[in-house]
Amino acid sequence: MTDRPNLPEIAPATDEAVNRAASLLRAGRLVAFPTETVYGLGADATDDRAVASIFEAKGRPRFNPLIVHVVDRTAAQAVATFDERARLLADIFWPGPLTLVLPRAPGAAVSLLVSAGLDSVAVRVPGHPVARALLAACGRPVAAPSANRSGGVSPTTPLHVSDSLGHRVDMILAGGRCRIGLESTVVDLTGPRALLLRHGGVTREEVEELIGPVEVETAPSQAPKSPGQLTSHYAPGLPVRLHATEARPDEALIGFGRNLMFVKGGAVRLNLSEQGDLQEAAANLFAMLRSVDRPGDFSGIAVTGIPDRGLGVAINDRLTRAAAPRPAPLTAQDPDAEKT
Ligand code: TXA
Ligand code: MG
Repeated sequence: MTDRPNLPEIAPATDEAVNRAASLLRAGRLVAFPTETVYGLGADATDDRAVASIFEAKGRPRFNPLIVHVVDRTAAQAVATFDERARLLADIFWPGPLTLVLPRAPGAAVSLLVSAGLDSVAVRVPGHPVARALLAACGRPVAAPSANRSGGVSPTTPLHVSDSLGHRVDMILAGGRCRIGLESTVVDLTGPRALLLRHGGVTREEVEELIGPVEVETAPSQAPKSPGQLTSHYAPGLPVRLHATEARPDEALIGFGRNLMFVKGGAVRLNLSEQGDLQEAAANLFAMLRSVDRPGDFSGIAVTGIPDRGLGVAINDRLTRAAAPRPAPLTAQDPDAEKT
């Protein structure tokens, strides 16, 4: 998009830019920033109006809770109540791609809108140095969903953010491409049984090694605990076809490792990881989906099978949602429209 008059500033993350971004946050403005998972659309989590403007910028219906990003465990404990399981997981995986859903700490200074009416709160200490510098400079917890319009593909570069949000964000702190490229794993510890709400950068097995069995929230019933679990969620504009064993001449084909050799056809052929490395594939996933999401050029996106182990589980989860039947177009007024 080149004809937008008010493109947001994309600033390399110098000390000066980080301080300016922190001031913007404290003034209630929106700043997109890199994390090791995806770019986040940040707002001061203690400021209701700022948090509300996240929903507005994303075109995201209101009742979805947001992740609160904090600089360290101490800051997290001001927001949420930790039990032994939470302490163990935080010790090992923070800073990093794990989000814990915990009871709100009594008197937590976080906007109720962040929790969307629940008495829980999702917290995470991100590992990306720019995110950490920003959180330290800001001195407040920062609410941040992925920095894309609702229902779209999560951004893993600054340009993805400006393409998706344009002038709806006040500043984009640039910190290169996200290393992991998939959102954080979300684990709910509000009840006696740990619940995996979203697959992500940390695998279920890694979590279970520390705290024992973790149940996976399966197909959401009427009231999904985590809106990220809704069926058509990570949806590109073009239809997505999974487990492709061949591609039509007008389809874009995305493969993995040596799989691609056995699949014929495709107007373009991209490999998530020639080495068959799931981590590399996760990091490339959203960027590749975006790069071929061109309805003028292709009729659809065909994807070969991806191994369903380790990070492959999270990749397949995102792909399944991208390929799910699309709901009718959503409007912000639709109370049932829960997409993040
Ligand atoms: O990697 C990530 O987690 C990125 C980066 C920016 O940190 N953030 C992100 O946020 O993906 P978002 O808002 O797109 O996804 C947050 C997920 C949603 O599935 C939401 O429903 C769930 O976390 N969540 C947040 N608070 C919750 C709560 N209190 N109870 C249950 N689920 C919650
Ligand atoms: Mg999202």
